[in-house]
Amino acid sequence: MPKHFLMCRPEHFTVEYAINPWMDPEAGADREVAVRQWEGLKAAYETLGHQVSLIDPVEGLPDMVFAANGATVVGGRVYGARFAFPQRGPEGPAYLRWFEERGYQVKNPEHVNEGEGDFLTLDEFVLAGTGFRTDVRAHQEAQEFLGRPVISLSLVDPRFYHLDTALFSLDGRNVAYYPGAFSEGSQEVLKRLFPEAVLATAADAEVLGLNAVSDGEHIVINSEAGELQLELKRRGYEVIPVELAELRKAGGGPKCCTLEIRA
Ligand code: ARG
Repeated sequence: MPKHFLMCRPEHFTVEYAINPWMDPEAGADREVAVRQWEGLKAAYETLGHQVSLIDPVEGLPDMVFAANGATVVGGRVYGARFAFPQRGPEGPAYLRWFEERGYQVKNPEHVNEGEGDFLTLDEFVLAGTGFRTDVRAHQEAQEFLGRPVISLSLVDPRFYHLDTALFSLDGRNVAYYPGAFSEGSQEVLKRLFPEAVLATAADAEVLGLNAVSDGEHIVINSEAGELQLELKRRGYEVIPVELAELRKAGGGPKCCTLEIRA
């Protein structure tokens, strides 16, 4: 079950504006360190046998490294992104063009949505976040275009502004999540859908430990998420810790850097 990922080397990465609480333009970030750490993530995927395709980074788009936000791809259909903040606006068309040029069926979205940042595809349905970035109307738009049931979840903590900062898929059927990121009603929905879920602590969420990528056997996860790694090992997963602290200064982790291309 090798996967196909799209990534974008952080050649123009900076922290020069603040659109989430992780970003401090005064403190900035070290681009060379970011590139080195990103190369480590890419190498980890390749070592696991996954295919990594690259999109050319665009100057002036410092967050383009966060490929997860570029689109949602399910069954070869590409539902494009429309960003909430103007600073990232041009990334939507740039990612859509990449897919268009390679013959994918693409949809230019009407409603604001930040791709896989807020759409998490499981085997039977898609979980979709709203509250900070993605407009709930995009959930409906995605359901119509992708032909998969979409279940809306409300995010309430600004540090966990995208669904993929608070929840990840373990194997397409079960998930790990940080309950505190979700509204009460959404916590109830998650309990009902995933009685066997891995529940993460605040400490693990605060190092973006939930921004992880699983292939069903191996889980690529921020190295600092210690408790969560132990629990995942207890459940039989092989944990692959990666060091991405420099990209966390923009509010991103391993999953943010990774757009899954589901053929
Ligand atoms: N600085 C970026 C933003 O705030 C980080 C995006 C992280 N991506 C993600 N999939 N959570 O938009």
